[in-house]
Amino acid sequence: MSLKDSIDLNNLPKHIAIIMDGNGRWAKSQGKNRLFGHTNGVTAVRETAEGCAELGVKYLTLYAFSTENWNRPILEVTGLMDLLLKTIKIEVKTLQKNNIRLKAIGDIDALPGNTARELRQAKEETAGNTRMDLILALNYSGKAEIMKSVKQIAEDVKQGKINVADINEEMMTSHLYTAGIPDPELMVRTSGEQRISNFLLWQLAYAEFYFTEKFWPDFDREELYNAILTYQNRERRFGKTTEQIKGEAK
Ligand code: FPP
Repeated sequence: MSLKDSIDLNNLPKHIAIIMDGNGRWAKSQGKNRLFGHTNGVTAVRETAEGCAELGVKYLTLYAFSTENWNRPILEVTGLMDLLLKTIKIEVKTLQKNNIRLKAIGDIDALPGNTARELRQAKEETAGNTRMDLILALNYSGKAEIMKSVKQIAEDVKQGKINVADINEEMMTSHLYTAGIPDPELMVRTSGEQRISNFLLWQLAYAEFYFTEKFWPDFDREELYNAILTYQNRERRFGKTTEQIKGEAK
């Protein structure tokens, strides 16, 4: 039986979030510059998005650029922005063909004008698609996202629209970039690093983590299937005991 056939389609994660790491090291191992790694990372993005859509995953979030990534050498930052612009421009047709809706989370307005424009246009063009949401985390920071939510709620309290006692998890969630999107059940990070690096800090509260040694450009469908199979073999207890979970499954 192939890896894909071993996947239980009734127990798929609805939402998979991925920290695409190791592009630079992948390039270095071949004596190439870091941008060569990012360019090859696009192939893995395509493979993963197609693989997820084919299986029936409904949301795929990819960490493409963090607010901390601005601190990288200027040539790498401008190269990455150009690559994003070019990739979105080229891939929008494939997204349409595959009925995939493009979304973005993060401080999009602070991206270079042409990247933000291209992204906005691709979002509009694909807005009616229903098979899967491909969500790009761009200029994203989990802490900044939580602070944004807190500030908006504080403003509502100040204006007398709500009371402090009304503040709850649902309200916090409704002010996040991901409002309306279910939390990821599975978070994957490539390249052997075992951190969440300011990614979806609120939303990953109960996610299963899967770490692989593979660098992002080497991530393919088989790796995706491995991650999902590992997730399906985990017992998700949400604070309960094994016995309670087993009782509920009856
Ligand atoms: C991390 O590897 C990767 C990034 C910061 C950028 C990811 C971007 C892409 C794969 C390109 C395009 C993506 C889309 C969605 C169109 P790293 O540079 O930190 O690698 P290192 O840890 O080995 O240095």
